[in-house]
Amino acid sequence: MIVPPSQKRLSLNELPRWSNWLGRFLGVGPLSPIRRTREKIDAEYDKDKYASCLAYYRQHAQEGITVDQVRKEWEMRAVGSESCVSFGDELFLLSSSESLTMNDQLLLEVLGPLAAQADSVVELGCGYGHNLWLLAQQFPGKTFFGGEYSPQAVTLAQELYRNNPSIHVEQFNFYDPTYPILDRLEKGRRVLVFTRHAIEQLPSAANVCLVLPKYADRMTAVVHLEPLYETHGESLLALLRKRYTEMNDYNRDLLPLLRANPAVTVQEAQMNVFGLNPLNPTSVIRWICAPHG
Ligand SMILES: C[S@@+](CC[C@H](N)C(=O)[O-])C[C@H]1O[C@@H](n2cnc3c(N)ncnc32)[C@H](O)[C@@H]1O
Repeated sequence: MIVPPSQKRLSLNELPRWSNWLGRFLGVGPLSPIRRTREKIDAEYDKDKYASCLAYYRQHAQEGITVDQVRKEWEMRAVGSESCVSFGDELFLLSSSESLTMNDQLLLEVLGPLAAQADSVVELGCGYGHNLWLLAQQFPGKTFFGGEYSPQAVTLAQELYRNNPSIHVEQFNFYDPTYPILDRLEKGRRVLVFTRHAIEQLPSAANVCLVLPKYADRMTAVVHLEPLYETHGESLLALLRKRYTEMNDYNRDLLPLLRANPAVTVQEAQMNVFGLNPLNPTSVIRWICAPHG
């Protein structure tokens, strides 16, 4: 698993310099709790972030701009030259490009061995497919399917990968009663399904946890690179993370729901592995559809 850098450690005391959420939690600066409705997702992702990424891509398409450039030069343009990241409960200062590289490395380390054994890889809530593109560079010859709620992100992906037949991105909604993207997969193929900071966008993971296991005959493994709510954490950082999740209306029930589902066996749950945002770090959950022991 990715390892923390040997130096450039930060104390929790220094975190307010890198995240204005802490001041807001303490009443310094405005704080209004978010309701993560579909309208909120439409406004934040479709109409704002991905619409502007699509416009940027179209402006530069003639120059042969890549998905990585859209991400680093445009989507992440507001990030300063350095950023505070977390490994477990420890904070570090990295250059922003090191942080993004570390984030990509985590994805490849976690999914790489499973993708190597799969025929196809599916990402649900994939944005414009940056993660799929990264995996496609490492695993040519496999097929990559992405499902995404934002029409602008789907359009951007279709334009980005129009000459790359191994990546297909289509409309998808976690709230739907069935997932046609999975219905269409051929039975008998080895399929890895994953999400990355996408189920976080739902106030409850109940529907996903109900629908996904119904595709047991089409999935060899499921991995979530998602934040997990630590009910029992009592350190200051754990309390700040809980508050961040609550204020953003991110789900608090993904892992408990998976563990309670008799059709699911959770094989791995590693908490707070790496945080590009230390208040909302990525945990890693891997499960398969199988009866409990
Ligand atoms: C933080 S972004 C992560 C995107 C991508 N997985 C990544 O790692 O870059 C969250 C994504 O979840 C998508 N999303 C939010 N609600 C969704 C829903 N109901 N169905 C499908 N995707 C959704 C958003 O549009 C956005 O692309």
